Amino acid sequence: AWQQVPLAPPDSIFKLTTAYKADPFPQKVNVGVGAYRDDHNKPWILPVVKKVTAILLNDPTLDHEYLPITGLPEFISAAAKLILGSDSPALSEARVASVQTISGTGANHLGALFLSRYYPWNGQPVVRLSNPTWANHYAIFKNVGIAPNDYPYYHPVTIGLDYDGFLGALRDAVPRSVFLLHACAHNPTGVDPTEEQWAAIADVMLEKGHYAFFDCAYQGFASGDLDRDAFAVRYFVGRKVPLLVCQSFAKNAGLYGERVGALHVISSTTEEATRVRSQLSVLQRSEISNPPSHGARLVSLILNNPDLFEEWKRDIKTMAHRIISIRQELYDLLTQELKTPGNWDHIINQIGMFSFTGINPTQSQALVDKAHIYLTANGRISMAGLNSKNIRYFAENLDKAVRG
Ligand code: LMR
Repeated sequence: AWQQVPLAPPDSIFKLTTAYKADPFPQKVNVGVGAYRDDHNKPWILPVVKKVTAILLNDPTLDHEYLPITGLPEFISAAAKLILGSDSPALSEARVASVQTISGTGANHLGALFLSRYYPWNGQPVVRLSNPTWANHYAIFKNVGIAPNDYPYYHPVTIGLDYDGFLGALRDAVPRSVFLLHACAHNPTGVDPTEEQWAAIADVMLEKGHYAFFDCAYQGFASGDLDRDAFAVRYFVGRKVPLLVCQSFAKNAGLYGERVGALHVISSTTEEATRVRSQLSVLQRSEISNPPSHGARLVSLILNNPDLFEEWKRDIKTMAHRIISIRQELYDLLTQELKTPGNWDHIINQIGMFSFTGINPTQSQALVDKAHIYLTANGRISMAGLNSKNIRYFAENLDKAVRG
């Protein structure tokens, strides 16, 4: 039956993990996938997660029954507060339809599916994606019949934000366009708008009646501060820009494999939110029936207990600060010791898990082939893959690749 099925290429990010694992070279480095590693290059189980795992194991009241279709209630409400702020007007006015999802990817999918069915499109369904963006965004929207179309975001000369290009695209877009925005720690560039720039972006979005599709996969990871990293989302909610938020706990709780996430659709009234929630529930039922319970229980315990919450915040700081210090170390090696040609300020100016080095696909491939350093072709590096033991090896080879 499947003679006509073409062979698909492997996923551009996860193929790097496979190749890295299979590589016997002792000094190999994996800066491909965005997954946190400690200074020993090991996955880090957050101490607070270890603690709540033990609590769950010893809880005789827990079973393996189905969760409600929209997820664990105490998880969903706490997750909404975390991203929107506990004093959010949208929450006090009961205007948020929240659903537990299969991590951030599932939230993106459910949000896209909902839009594909119910958004009042101005013409053909199109989503505007930053150029560049997480490669999976293209596939997720295409899967539900929404065509992706880039907007300018990154400026290759400044290795920073193409602010004028971005604002121009917002102004030129047909009214009621859907713009996917990275809430913080833009993937793959690590380049975020400033608070003033977000304000101007919101102005144009309101003027044109655009819809903000926020993807928030790195709350806490950008600055080490959960509230600060939620600025854009909360500001847009305050300004009443129509929006939804996709939320992931993969990175900030180190729960990659547990697939804990949520989708929050902000509505204008409680009644509208009730209708939206009812349709999200119908869509969720046909896709996954009920979301998984374990990860949601873990996160719910952390979010709903003040001591555990404080402990989690400390764990997040541990991760964010290691990444910030490794940025500085890399910057110092390149600029002071190796005197690598070019300007490397972006290494310390960019935020979050990733750095967009500015090297081209040929140079990236040279790093893979010659130095066993695994990174995506666009020159993105996951800073978490660097540590005190491999940073010199990485910097020296980046230097070589840049010199050609
Ligand atoms: C990444 O961009 O490396 C991560 O978000 C992992 C993924 O799902 O691609």
